[in-house]
Formats: sequence, structure tokens, C-alpha cells
Amino acid sequence: MMKQVKFGVLGCGTAAHFHAAACKNSRNIKLVSAFDVKYENAKKLADIYNLTVSRNYQDILKSDEVDAVLITLPHFLHNDFTVEAAETGKHILCEKPMASTLEECDNMIKAAKKGGVKLMIAENHRFLPAHKLIKKVLEEGLIGTPILVRGYEGVDETPDLSKPEHWKGSPEKAGGGVLMDAAVHKFAILNWMLGDVALAYCWLAKQMIKLENKADDNAMMFMKFENGCIGEVVVSDTVFSPPNNRLEFYGTKGTILEDHSWTKPVQIFSTVIEAGENRYQWYSPEVEHEPFPMYYIISFRHEDEHFAECVLEGKEPVFAPEEAKKAVAVVLLGYLSAKTGKIATPADLEKMASTKGTRSIIEGVEKISI
Ligand SMILES: NC(=O)c1ccc[n+]([C@@H]2O[C@H](COP(=O)([O-])OP(=O)(O)OC[C@H]3O[C@@H](n4cnc5c(N)ncnc54)[C@H](O)[C@@H]3O)[C@@H](O)[C@H]2O)c1
Repeated sequence: MMKQVKFGVLGCGTAAHFHAAACKNSRNIKLVSAFDVKYENAKKLADIYNLTVSRNYQDILKSDEVDAVLITLPHFLHNDFTVEAAETGKHILCEKPMASTLEECDNMIKAAKKGGVKLMIAENHRFLPAHKLIKKVLEEGLIGTPILVRGYEGVDETPDLSKPEHWKGSPEKAGGGVLMDAAVHKFAILNWMLGDVALAYCWLAKQMIKLENKADDNAMMFMKFENGCIGEVVVSDTVFSPPNNRLEFYGTKGTILEDHSWTKPVQIFSTVIEAGENRYQWYSPEVEHEPFPMYYIISFRHEDEHFAECVLEGKEPVFAPEEAKKAVAVVLLGYLSAKTGKIATPADLEKMASTKGTRSIIEGVEKISI
């Protein structure tokens, strides 16, 4: 019986370093080998974490020493590498967004099923303790029915976005700009907390990155969920302070505020608490958290440990690939709306999927800026 999941790392950039740091003391996970099209990137990761560098990824896929792959590659490569890994019987932990089109997401799900392997999309926001706490508070009804939600992520991606040849921000290689890269995190957790999106209206802007082949560096999406809650998600790749995330939930009986830069990241105000010191005042429950960069390490550790447990114990990941696909679908809803200048619904998206295919939605988004 497998005692530890041995991983080969495919793609050794920023995300791979976060995973490696998060897993370095794990009993269940061992990173054993690394491949990157830029040898020096694989070598750098390998030197820090004592891995073997492979000159080609097939050696990793064929190796009996490897049980699973960690795919930390640009978005346009997620599908192909997942399919090949599944064919060789390797379990797959693949970074978000699952892929840039719904067809690729379906393909990845099909390949994992056919190969009989576990597939989980590494959506670290689903594993952040602060987010798990919010989900519980919502389920306990402490703020009543959520009627308004706001989500925000802001980072500085300007160094990579400013390079015309870099994959980030390229519709072809990244599936779009900041909406695909960052808002997908928010949609994954809002779908989990509030259910499906019924309609969306989206603005894309190129505020600082004016390169012809790069898409939105700032985006705003307004949405209504099937449960009636309305909301906005605002994402920016041009924020010159440490990366940050926020969520605000306003309910019929209370409020939740969350901010990754706070040491106690969740504040709750509830009018349904009947007695005790938390009645009718803001309170912040204890939760495992540290501001940037530690929230990355904490969430990656919980995420990667969960995936390893699923492999070792034959369980299904709590973040199913179908849910990761749903988050991509909300991003595409946003791009569809931005392209048409109109509200977009899942029925519109389905129509595009069954006629032109969802790749057609992201084609040309680099030309859109309000
Ligand atoms: N969950 C998070 O918070 C988080 C944070 C950062 C990145 N990510 C995700 O991780 C993935 C990688 O992003 P990143 O920021 O690490 O990118 P990156 O550009 O820093 O790293 C990507 C690596 O892939 C390599 N690469 C490119 N083409 C390749 C190929 N054909 N074969 C092998 N290697 C190749 C590059 O040389 C580079 O080393 C993306 O899906 C991104 O969205 C997630």
C-alpha cells in the first residue's frame, strides 16, 4: 500500500515554489522530480528541495517512482499535460483555472475517469481556513440570508504582463487576463457558498498594460445568483501593495467581513446570537491565518494534504473537477458579457458552447477595454 504520495512537478515557476514550501514537512507528500521547459527553473526548485531534474516530462510520467503530478504550468497547457498524465496512470493536482474553455475542462474530467486517477484542481481558496469558517457561519444562519456579496483580489502582475512574450495576460496562453487568472478564485468560493450564478454583467479594462496581445488587467463583474443574492467581484493585476483578498457578505440578519491582510481575517456581526459577548457586536473567531505571504503557504498546505489523503485513502476530493469547471464557466460568462456589452446568462453560454465552442468567447478579448 502507498504510504506517501510521490509527486513529479511539471512547471517550476512561482506556484511550484509555493507548493514546495507548503509540502516540505509533510508526512504524506514527497516531491521527487521536476521538469520545466527552462532547465534553470527546474534546477532552482530541485536545488532548494532536493529533487531530481528531468530533461523531459515523459521520464516523469513513465517513472515508477512517481505516483502523481503537480501541474504548475501556464493555463493553455493544463489540458494536454492532464490528459497525458491520466493516460500513464498518474494522479493529477493541477493549478487553477482548470483550463480556458469548457471543452478542455470536460476533456480533463473524461481523461481522469478513463485513466482511473484522481484529478483535483488546486484552488487554494477552497482550503483557506478563513473561507471554511465563512462557509460554516453562512450554513449556521448567523447572518440570515445573504443578499449582497462583494469580492476583491488585487495583486501586482505588471512585471510579467509588461513582457509581450510572457504567457500571463495572453488570451491564447492564459485564457484571458485578470478575470481568468484571479476572479476564478472568487467564483470557485462564491459558487460553493452561494450556489450557481444566474446572470452576469462585466467590464474589462486595460488600465496600465496597453500591449496589443494582452487582455484585461482590471475587471469588474456584477452578478445575480440563483438564490437571489446580488454581488460584485473586482479584480486587479495592477495593485502596488502586497497581494490581498477581501470578501463581504451582507445578510438579512448580519454581516461577515474578511480581509487576508488582517491577522484575524474574519469579522462577524450577527443579530441572531441570543446571548453572550458576541451578541450585537463585531467579533473575530480564532482561525489559522497569517497575512501575505503565509496565507498562500497555509492554504496550499491544506489543499495539497487533502489531495494526498484522497490518493492514499481512495477518497474523492472535496473540490470536484466539475466545480472547478463551473468556476471557469462563470469567467466565460463574464467575457461573454464584456464582448456583447450585455448581461450574459448560463443559457447564452450553453448556446455558444453548442454552436461556436467556448474558445470563441476568449478570442479577441485583448481588444476590449472600457
Ligand atoms: N493558487 C494560487 O494562488 C496561484 C498563484 C500563482 C500561480 N498560480 C497558477 O499556477 C500556474 C502557473 O503559474 P505561475 O505563476 O507559477 O507561472 P510561472 O510563469 O511563474 O511558471 C510557469 C513555469 O512553467 C514553465 N513552462 C512554460 N511552458 C512550459 C512547457 N511547455 N513545459 C514545461 N514547462 C513550461 C515556465 O518556464 C515556468 O517556469 C497557473 O495555472 C497559475 O494560474 C496559482
